[in-house]
Amino acid sequence: MKIAILNGSPRLGNTAAMINAFAEGAREAGHEVEILHVGKMKINGCLGCEYCHGKGEGVCVQKDDMAKVMPAYKEADMIVYASPVYYFGMTAQLSAAIQRVYAIGKPARATKAALLLSSGSPAPYAGSIATYKDMLAYMGIEDAGIITAAGAENGSEAKLAEIKAFAKGL
Ligand SMILES: Cc1cc2nc3c(=O)[nH]c(=O)nc-3n(C[C@H](O)[C@H](O)[C@H](O)COP(=O)(O)O)c2cc1C
Repeated sequence: MKIAILNGSPRLGNTAAMINAFAEGAREAGHEVEILHVGKMKINGCLGCEYCHGKGEGVCVQKDDMAKVMPAYKEADMIVYASPVYYFGMTAQLSAAIQRVYAIGKPARATKAALLLSSGSPAPYAGSIATYKDMLAYMGIEDAGIITAAGAENGSEAKLAEIKAFAKGL
C-alpha cells in the first residue's frame, strides 16, 4: 500500500516520534510511506469561494503548500492523520489540510485511515476522534485504528512498540 502520513505538529516532537514508529512498522511490512509535515507548511484555510468546483476544475484558487499535499490525497491507499492535541482538537494546520481536500471532494484512492494523537494530559481526544470518524463515514473510508499517547506515554518504549506493531499488521 501507498501510505501518506500527515503530521499536524509544527515541530518534530512527540507526534513525529509516533509517526516514525508507525513508518518503521509499515515499511517493514513492505508498504511505501510518505510523511508530509503539514504543521510546518503554509496552508491557508479554505475560502469557500467554490472556484475549485467551477472554473478551477478541482484545483484550488490559493497557491500555497497545499499543492504538496494534494498528490497524496490523489494517490495514497491509506492516510494517517497525526496531530498533537491543541485545545481539544487537531492543530489548525492539520485541520486546514483536512478541509482543503474539498477541492477534490475526498481522497481519490484511500480505503483506509488511521489517527495518531499526542497530548499532555489524559483523554482530551473526544473532539478529534469525532471529527475523524464523521469525516471517514462521509468519505467512505475504513478506520484501521486510533492510537493516543498522553503525558509520559509520549516517547515511551511501550507506546512506540504498540504503534510499530499496529503498522506492521496493516
Ligand atoms: C497550543 C497548544 C495547545 C495544547 N492543548 C492541549 C490540550 O488541549 N490538551 C492536552 O492534553 N495537551 C495540550 N497541549 C500539549 C500537546 O498536545 C502535547 O505537548 C503534545 O505531546 C505535543 O506534541 P508535539 O511534540 O508533536 O508537538 C497543547 C500544546 C500546545 C502548544
